[in-house]
Amino acid sequence: MKKQIGVIFGSRSCEREVSIISAVQLMRYADTEKYDIIPVYIDENGSWYTGEVLKDIRTFKNFNPDTKGIRKVFPDLESGSGALLYLNRGSGLLAKEKIEIAARIDVYVIVMHGMNGEDGTLQGLFELANVPYTSTGVTGSAIGMDKIAMKQFFRGAGLPVLPGVWFTRREFGEKPDAVVSEVAGKLGYPVFVKPANLGSSIGVSRADNEEELKDALELAFEYDRRVLVEKGLDKPIELNCSVLGYDGETAASPIEMPLNHDEFLDFRDKYLGGNGTKGMASLSRVLPAPIEDSLKEKVQALSREIFRLMDCKGVVRIDYMFDRISEEIYITEINTIPGSLAFYLWENDGMPYKTLIDKMIDYAEKAHADKTRNNYAYNSDILKNASFGTKGAKGAKGAKHA
Ligand SMILES: Nc1ncnc2c1ncn2[C@@H]1O[C@H](COP(=O)(O)OP(=O)(O)O)[C@@H](O)[C@H]1O
Ligand SMILES: [Mg+2]
Repeated sequence: MKKQIGVIFGSRSCEREVSIISAVQLMRYADTEKYDIIPVYIDENGSWYTGEVLKDIRTFKNFNPDTKGIRKVFPDLESGSGALLYLNRGSGLLAKEKIEIAARIDVYVIVMHGMNGEDGTLQGLFELANVPYTSTGVTGSAIGMDKIAMKQFFRGAGLPVLPGVWFTRREFGEKPDAVVSEVAGKLGYPVFVKPANLGSSIGVSRADNEEELKDALELAFEYDRRVLVEKGLDKPIELNCSVLGYDGETAASPIEMPLNHDEFLDFRDKYLGGNGTKGMASLSRVLPAPIEDSLKEKVQALSREIFRLMDCKGVVRIDYMFDRISEEIYITEINTIPGSLAFYLWENDGMPYKTLIDKMIDYAEKAHADKTRNNYAYNSDILKNASFGTKGAKGAKGAKHA
């Protein structure tokens, strides 16, 4: 029997549309000789849907859950079940509601960008349900999504990041001038202001003076309660490298140099340039980047080290900035679920997208098998000896144990 692969995408995230593009693209490339591809779309309200029509990009131009062929589903959380359930309302006068199985998923391929999907939340749900899933686990996903935690993590590991400070919405609301002077004192200008938990350049802006900083902070706080302000580089050379693997088995891809038309890559450049259905794959870039071998090797080694430190799984993309003046390299961020799953970087290395998907699924199953090797059955005598007394609530003296 073919493997049942649930491709899950969408979700309550500013990057839902980007996720739809990445997912529809992936579903077209997956090997249908090996897999039954079951689309699972989470809409902006958090409702889950399945159905063949969800493989078609046109379904999302004006998404209507009442479209023929779309079924509302929910996941069975019982350990190892992997079932997608639906409520059969029955028909006729004596109709009885019944919960039935819409599909059984062997492995989930997570194609989500941003909050409620790339950030560890969905990964946590699949850990709880004990079903294999592609993408990094809960901890790495959460750290990778939060630009503040990520910077602290990398800095703690001795990896090169730009200096930064961060604030909460409350802090900025109460003392905007203190925030501005802290930035000026600690970082100077220019700075880049970023909501802690977003991607795709949403809410990110550059500020060259106090006035711009205030505007940038206001914008960023619309998207998140916590905002990072980072020392800015002038026209850095951006370099991106993907890593594919799991637990010691890692490979680094060729390096791309994305080209920015503007000051920096914004959402429009990333996703709307060229043909709007190609996602990250349509961005203008130089691939492989025309850099010296020594820099290339350094970036690849750093990328694999980061992958290991964050216990990543499947395919990630790590972005860097190379400062033309100091000739230093800095980590910009890690994307634990990169746009278009970074397939174009692997294709450049001679690996077809189909093979990349096979590998992601393989690593998902390996990680799941490793998990089942853990001992969950450690028994102590703690319950056997626990007692709240025999008189019920009135006379209870609290638990007694050795
Ligand atoms: N400190 C910085 N100096 C110069 N450019 C920056 C800096 N930080 C970000 N940028 C520019 O902004 C873009 C988006 O920033 P990034 O941190 O990657 O956010 P996102 O998660 O939204 O992609 C980067 O690709 C780069 O072009
Ligand atoms: Mg980025």
